[in-house]
Amino acid sequence: MNKRKTSSPDVHLNLNVRGLTLSAALAINERCAALRAQGKQIHMLGLGQSPFPIPQVIVDELKANAHQRRYLPVRGLPPLREAVADYMRRISGVEYGAQDVLVGPGSKQMMFVLQLVYYGDLVIPTPSWTSYAPQADILGRQIRWLHSDALHDWRLLPEELDSLCRTDPSRPRIVVLNYPSNPSGGSYTQEELKALARVARQYRLVLLSDEVYGELHHRGQHSSIARFYPEGTIISSGLSKWCGAGGWRLGTFVFPRSLHWLLEAMAVVASETYTSTSTPIQYAAVRAFQGGIEIEHYLTQVRRILRALGRHCARQLRDAGVRVSEPRGAFYLFPDFTPVAHRLKKRGIHTSDELCERLLEERGVALLPGSAFGRPAHELCARLAYVDFDGARALVAAEQIPATQELEGAFLEQHCAYVISALKKTCDWISG
Ligand SMILES: Cc1ncc(COP(=O)(O)O)c(C=O)c1O
Repeated sequence: MNKRKTSSPDVHLNLNVRGLTLSAALAINERCAALRAQGKQIHMLGLGQSPFPIPQVIVDELKANAHQRRYLPVRGLPPLREAVADYMRRISGVEYGAQDVLVGPGSKQMMFVLQLVYYGDLVIPTPSWTSYAPQADILGRQIRWLHSDALHDWRLLPEELDSLCRTDPSRPRIVVLNYPSNPSGGSYTQEELKALARVARQYRLVLLSDEVYGELHHRGQHSSIARFYPEGTIISSGLSKWCGAGGWRLGTFVFPRSLHWLLEAMAVVASETYTSTSTPIQYAAVRAFQGGIEIEHYLTQVRRILRALGRHCARQLRDAGVRVSEPRGAFYLFPDFTPVAHRLKKRGIHTSDELCERLLEERGVALLPGSAFGRPAHELCARLAYVDFDGARALVAAEQIPATQELEGAFLEQHCAYVISALKKTCDWISG
């Protein structure tokens, strides 16, 4: 008998990868699709995907460039790098030029490459996006978690960062800061960013400022920490969230001059792995980053819908006794069910995984457990992505309502009905 054939093939897997499972957000999506295929009614509040269409002017630009077929320079199409630098200058007030920009196939891939080329710890506040930690695991990097809490709206506090850094002040570290936040929908004020920037400067940290939801600040008031710590901040962004173009796979990193050595190292890895980012997409992205009236108008309506829906969902949950922060951006809430834990425990629910599993089984509502965002298993938190609605229809309907008016219950009942009914089902389920 051939021994090699009978042994499990995964003994040949790299140890860092063995035992890892599909990214939580993608896994829940596949699970929901399978349940839907069985005819079950499922509310997909698991995967964080923009419900809105890509602005038409950007789609038109892609059509016009479908014939572009050549590989582009590894760092990105020069006019795109220029447009991104201009855009980041507008957002952050920092003087960037095309030479400071790296374009890649999604910011997720770029974060992986950054961690690959940088030798140091990855510091991640919790709760935070599901992929930072697995990327560090795959690469064998040390992860240092910084816990935050519901009382501080899940924000990283400067004293927490300081006390971690103080233990070994000169240790190389990348700190990830994501705002508006996935999963909490929270953000930072300028004063809060300044305070974090002071600590970052003191310990010469590399700050990876993940601003992929920046344009989805519900009041259009996003501000970058690069304004206060330009020399150590890399701004990460892309088309996926504000432009509704996750599947286009285009991400951008902007570096200060002092971190160009990282940009160059990333470009080397890119040149030996993915070569460059899709050519037609890069041409279309120039239009996206140049902005203009149509795109501003689109963003105003998108923010208005998300603001109304996020606040409505938070209110419903609070009325049901759940603790949840007021959302400031993106399309997420991170409800904490601890105040109703006594009711859940009576039904045998003790962990966030059990909470999500039972809610999906019993009411067909899919959330992602807090454990996927680095929170302790027994903390009854979950992420709710309020995106299960037809964004194109909602945009058309919002146009009919004067811009000075907030969108209200009747609008949401009509155009975001699936999310509203998922909330009702969740709240009924809690009071059980
Ligand atoms: C916080 C955060 N950062 C980064 C990404 C990755 O975005 P992309 O790779 O599509 O640019 C996501 C996507 O879900 C995200 O939620």
